Amino acid sequence: MLVAALALIAVETDNTSLIMVSDQEGVLRTAHYGERISDPSEFLAADLFSDPYSESHTRSYPSVGGTFINQPALHVKYADGTHNTELVYKGHSVTSSDGATVTSIDLLDSVTSLEVRLVFTAYEKENVILEHAEIRNGGKKEIQLLDYASSSMTIEAGKYLLTHFYGGWATEMNIDREILTHDTKVIESRRGTQATQCNNPSFLLSLDTDSFSENDGEVVAGALAWSGNFRLSFEIDESGRLRVLGGINPFASSYPLASGATFVTPDMIWTRSPEGAGGASRNLHRWARKYGVYAGGTVNPTLLNSWEGAYFTFTTETLLRMIDDAADMGLEMFVLDDGWFGNKFPRNGDDAGLGDWDVNVSKIPEGIDYVASYAHSKGLKFGIWIEPEMVNPKSELALAHPDWVVQSPGREIPTARNQWVLDLSNPAVQDFVFGIFDKTMSLAPSIDYIKWDCNRTVASFGSKYLKKNQDRFYVDYCEGIYNVMRRIREKYPSVIVQCCSSGGGRVDYGALRWFNEIWTSDDTDAFQRAYIQYATNLIYPACVMGSHVSAVPNHQSGNVTPLKFRFDMACSGRLGMELQPKTLTPEERAVAERCIASYKEYRDLVFRGDVYRLASPYEGDYYSLMYVSEDRSRAVVFDYCLRYQNRAVGSHPLKLRGLDPSRKYRVRELNVDRSSWWGDGGAYSGEFLSSGAFAPSLLTTYSSGVFYLEAL
Ligand code: GLA
Repeated sequence: MLVAALALIAVETDNTSLIMVSDQEGVLRTAHYGERISDPSEFLAADLFSDPYSESHTRSYPSVGGTFINQPALHVKYADGTHNTELVYKGHSVTSSDGATVTSIDLLDSVTSLEVRLVFTAYEKENVILEHAEIRNGGKKEIQLLDYASSSMTIEAGKYLLTHFYGGWATEMNIDREILTHDTKVIESRRGTQATQCNNPSFLLSLDTDSFSENDGEVVAGALAWSGNFRLSFEIDESGRLRVLGGINPFASSYPLASGATFVTPDMIWTRSPEGAGGASRNLHRWARKYGVYAGGTVNPTLLNSWEGAYFTFTTETLLRMIDDAADMGLEMFVLDDGWFGNKFPRNGDDAGLGDWDVNVSKIPEGIDYVASYAHSKGLKFGIWIEPEMVNPKSELALAHPDWVVQSPGREIPTARNQWVLDLSNPAVQDFVFGIFDKTMSLAPSIDYIKWDCNRTVASFGSKYLKKNQDRFYVDYCEGIYNVMRRIREKYPSVIVQCCSSGGGRVDYGALRWFNEIWTSDDTDAFQRAYIQYATNLIYPACVMGSHVSAVPNHQSGNVTPLKFRFDMACSGRLGMELQPKTLTPEERAVAERCIASYKEYRDLVFRGDVYRLASPYEGDYYSLMYVSEDRSRAVVFDYCLRYQNRAVGSHPLKLRGLDPSRKYRVRELNVDRSSWWGDGGAYSGEFLSSGAFAPSLLTTYSSGVFYLEAL
């Protein structure tokens, strides 16, 4: 029997279509997410609904109730104890704004008066679609939201190869890969804060293949814009269809919704590319630079950070000499990290002082203004570290406001890194945290950069403020952070704010709406960074990746790598240094100065160019990538040898990508006196350079090259 649909909704970008139809019963179904369909109206007649046994997976926003029995996007418990919600299409509207088309689809359960508005924002040029849900309790009594996903995407293919990310402190964003099988695979975080330290709310799905490809095949990528507990689930039903649910993790979070109230879920970000993982990354990055990252694509300054060079042990004199060295080497900012505050409980280690944001008068009696002004007088910007969401038990703050600490009544409050979490679900704590930022900004007439840290996860959760509403804690905490950041951005639109959470513990597109960059990892070993940066960059653009040159043996891994290798690795993100410059020999200083100077020549490509990954550290002994300007007139290539190669190999051929085949490019290796490529200095066509003829001879462990290409 051919069943005609009642309504058709096409959410379109330049190359993709997401087509939804409402069937005869008014159920909204996803008919297609894939290549752009020139005439979507043909889907009105398509016989999509004739199989009653597999109908559940085509629902665009499935709820518990009716005939639906799989993983729901929405699960509501009503005041009378019932769980049934049956949403019916009511209408939709389309508006446009700032390069995007917004489609809002209204659904209603007429028995309970629950309303759901699905909002799709399609970024045409970037081929990115955002989806979120606005759930309104139109009934008279309070209800409980038990599941409230942002998006439910139906994807049809013969095989689904999932790439996702796992890790831990100083080893974030490792890659896991698996072919999905029937039933449900879940990737989630229940950590509250530092939500992304172990898993990241993002993934890539390579369709109809057993193997991951950088350049070929259809890839769907997704990422959730939320910095709290998240859950992504991938369910293949008996029909072989995949449905991906992305949203806030409902773990311990049945959210109460009063009569008339609306809950707005975070955005789930989708893209699809026929050009493999590389195409999907470039779509996400282009969108992120323009819309998804605070001041995305702006070139942020190179810097010297005091942490690994001084830790907690410094005086004004130490800082001034580091500033001198930073200026001499050509860096553009000095960032004073942890250890500058606390008097009654001085911050001389991680066990005291957190929460007491007054400058430590024995370390810096002259005050922060003095140090900041000195930096400015040397032509450097000045940045400073804070961790305003946290408190040491040994602090004046903990004594003054014990009820601000996350805790469960009658139980011991567990410490981690000797600290407790402040309860950001409490508006008074939000005011305090905003106040700390505000106060820090006033320590000197011009603070250019704040490093915002968050060094532990939530444990034994509970909020004195929320009283009987403990179910709200995890969601309200994250909303609390966003409330604070909204206020900060209203008052301080141009300060650069780094999102650090023991490294990459808060790396997600929810945070990046407010933060300019991330501290990619506390692991500063350039060899380990090849893996961390490669994977981070699959989802997040290079402009956000803080990457620092540190001392050897590396303080985390003990590994020893050449200084040039460390620079070349850091230069593929936002370059910084994090060591005591006094420990460098004159020869090393010269290497540093040269690498910093050349970075300034090409870094706009790192911040704004399109990435093409040429060799994956997961698949061989090299990590190689390049960034190409939008007009394809300039490019920079980074090539890193991670393991010793048999000398008979001779060279490492790379097929450059993204170049104009017919233009000629002058190729120059930077930061060396003798190039590793025979053709250095010459001009070659994009076609030639993409053929494999570009083959630097980088064979020894941790040898590396940076090549700058300019079209003639
Ligand atoms: C965390 C950060 C580091 C540094 C220390 C300071 O571990 O990731 O970069 O700021 O805190 O305590």
